[in-house]
Parts: sequence; structure tokens; C-alpha cells
Amino acid sequence: MHVLVTGGAGFIGAHACVALAARGHRVSIVDNFANSCRGVLPRLALLTGSAVDCRCLDIRDRAALAELFASTRFDAVIHFAALKAVGESCERPLEYFDNNICGTVSLLQAMSAAGVRRLVFSSSATVYGTPEAVPVREDARLDVTNPYGRTKLVNEQLVDDLCRFDPAFAVANLRYFNPVGAHPSGLIGEDPGGIPNNLMPYVCQVAAGRRACLRVFGGDYPTIDGTGVRDYIHVVDLARAHVDALEYLMDTGRPLTVNLGTGRGISVLELLRAFEYASGRQIPHEIVHRRPGDVAEVYADPSLAARVLGWKAELGLDAMCRDAWHWQSLNPDGYLSRTRPGQRVAASARPPVTAGADAVLRGG
Ligand code: NAD
Ligand code: UD1
Repeated sequence: MHVLVTGGAGFIGAHACVALAARGHRVSIVDNFANSCRGVLPRLALLTGSAVDCRCLDIRDRAALAELFASTRFDAVIHFAALKAVGESCERPLEYFDNNICGTVSLLQAMSAAGVRRLVFSSSATVYGTPEAVPVREDARLDVTNPYGRTKLVNEQLVDDLCRFDPAFAVANLRYFNPVGAHPSGLIGEDPGGIPNNLMPYVCQVAAGRRACLRVFGGDYPTIDGTGVRDYIHVVDLARAHVDALEYLMDTGRPLTVNLGTGRGISVLELLRAFEYASGRQIPHEIVHRRPGDVAEVYADPSLAARVLGWKAELGLDAMCRDAWHWQSLNPDGYLSRTRPGQRVAASARPPVTAGADAVLRGG
């Protein structure tokens, strides 16, 4: 298949490109680099074994998208392109509605005009809001608490309606829980600009000495140790699920909505301990007030994905921490990094990296 990946230069999209190539699919990327960096492209070329076709394009640019679809025959689309910061979405809701909802409509119009009717959509566990019970099943009540979450829910509803009223369309809504980790090569990973909002990138930066101390938001939740519990999922497992979902859509033509998580809840302190073990470093931390909008405990019931897609998360918390730290250590400044002596993690803690990869990491 020739697959168009919107937002393919971003954290999860880049890993999906690698997973697609590994299964023999051809990949093209569109990304406006609003939250990513061109430095990912040579690394993707190394991991996929060939130069990556990438257009710098905003998916809201209907003319540019139409031109792309007219010039290239795609079999399917995986749609990652979106803004994703919850706090920012509360400050600038219209920007989120425009980028995430209008962007999706623009993409669907271009696909429809070109006769491309298979789409995998990046949704989120945020559509469950504060779940009434855990583990959360796909038929749980949907309820969003911020504009970012609203964009995910509205997009799901739009594509569900599209599939209902135009049965030639088949869309898979993939509801991710908490994606973390990085490719085991250390070549691609999460590269947040500014102060990270999410736990794992923040922990990585504390371990690397870029930030002094982790603030643990709340120590009085009714959980195993009082800290928030989430379902962290390795980005490599998550990426693989996209290829499984795409192949399912191609085989069956049936729409699908599934949770992607491990099914295991991990507390902030459990993650901290696992990270300290993986990195060999202490993570200074202090327990502070709860973060507004946070819930105590959210983890997935991932059994539908296992039944329908044959997909199961394989990598555990230790691999998530090891690979996140490996990426952070090799790339202290994200994709702008050049490695310096002493920054590498022990060879025993990482899989082999090719000579070509070493050259890219040195900026070659
Ligand atoms: P990311 O920001 O790293 O990647 C998104 C990419 O989309 C970026 O490269 C950005 O430049 C691009 N983009 C944004 N708006 C665009 C536009 N209008 N036109 C073209 N490109 C555009 O984020 P990510 O973590 O890789 O997330 C990918 C998707 O998964 C997003 O839709 C996000 O909402 C969803 N998601 C992420 C998480 C998470 O924790 N990372 C959890 C649930 C869902
Ligand atoms: C957050 C978003 C959610 C989004 C998800 C993935 C909020 C309220 N929710 O989810 O909508 O889909 O990211 O992008 O922002 N924590 C700390 N200290 C930190 C950071 C986090 O203690 O510096 C704690 C949180 O309180 C939580 C856990 O770590 O208990 C995970 O937080 P985070 O990584 O931000 O993910 P979510 O809150 O699940």
C-alpha cells in the first residue's frame, strides 16, 4: 500500500512510518512542522531504508491537498496531524477547532474527491473524560472536559457519520491511552518544545539535569500510593497497531473504534521508580497540589483490539523507561542534538545502532 501519513514528522507519526515501512508499505508524509522538526527526516530514512517523501503542507490548505491527491494515488491515510496541548487548547480553543476539526474536514474532502476511503484516525482516551469505571471499555460514556478533547470527539463523530452515510468509507478511530518511550535505536522519539506537559518527557528532562525537580501532581488520590494512575503504552506497540488497523480496514472495509493501551494502570511513583532503575539516576521530586482537570485513575480495557485486530501491547514499563531514557541521553536537545562524549547510555542498555545511525546522530 501507499499510505499518506499526516503529521508523520511528529512523535507517534514518525514511529508509524517506521512500522509501515517494516511491513513493506510505501509512505508519504505531509506535515506543517508546527510541532516537529525536519531533523527527523534523515533519521527516518535510516530506519526505513530509503529517503522519505515529505511535503511541508498544512492540511487546511485545500488547494495543496487536492494537488497532492491528484498527483499521487494513495491507498489509505493515517491522520495524526493535530495540536495536542490540553492547557493551550483552553487558552486558544478556536485555534484548536480550526486546526483539528477544519483540518480533518479538509483532509476528508480531498480523500473523497480522489476516491481514497480508508482512514486511521488518532483519537484519545481523553474522549472518556472522567470515566465512571476502570478499566475503560469502548462503550463507556463519552464526555470531554477541554477543547482539545472536544476536537477528538467531534472528529470521531464526523468520521462515524461519514462511514454511515457513505458506506464506501471505512475509518478506524484509535483511542490512545498514554504513549511514551521511543524507538529502541535512539534515532526517533518525543521532542517537546518548551516545558513538557506530560509526565514521561518531564521525567526524562529531570534525569538529564535540564530541570531540577519533578512536581508530582497530587498525593491524595484514592489509588495504590495516592498518585495518579495511567495506562502508559510504548510508542512502538502503538505504531504497530496503526498498521494492524489499516490492514483490517483494507481487508474488511468495516469501521472500527478501539482502545489502545496495555490494560495495566501505573502510578506516578511506580513510573518514577522504574525510570530510576532504567536510567541509574535519582529523580528529585516533590508532591504538590493536584493538577486541575486530572482524574485519579484511567486505564484501558484493550480486549477489543486483541479480538478484532489480534493486537496486544508487548513492551512493558521497563522497556518504555529504558527507550525513553536512551532517546533522551543520545539526543539531549531533541532532533537538534549532536552527541557528545559521555552522553551515551551503556551499550548493554541499548540495541545495536548501525554505523549510519551513529553518523546521523553526530550530525553527519
Ligand atoms: P505531535 O505534535 O508530535 O505530532 C503531530 C504532528 O502534526 C506534528 O508534526 C505537527 O507539526 C503536525 N501538524 C499539526 N497540525 C498540522 C496541520 N494543520 N497540517 C499539517 N501538519 C500538522 O503529536 P503526537 O504525540 O505524535 O500525536 C499524534 C496524534 O495523536 C495527534 O492527533 C494527537 O492528538 C494524538 N494523541 C496523542 C497522544 C499523546 O500523548 N502523544 C495521546 C492521544 C492522542
Ligand atoms: C494528558 C491530558 C490528556 C491527553 C494526554 C496525552 C490533561 C489534564 N490531560 O493526560 O487530555 O490526552 O495528556 O497527551 O492534561 N504528572 C505529574 N507531574 C507532571 C506531569 C504529569 O505528576 O509534571 C502526572 C499527572 O497528574 C497524571 C500522570 O502524571 O497523573 C500522567 O500525566 P500526563 O502525562 O500529563 O497524561 P494525562 O494526564 O493522562
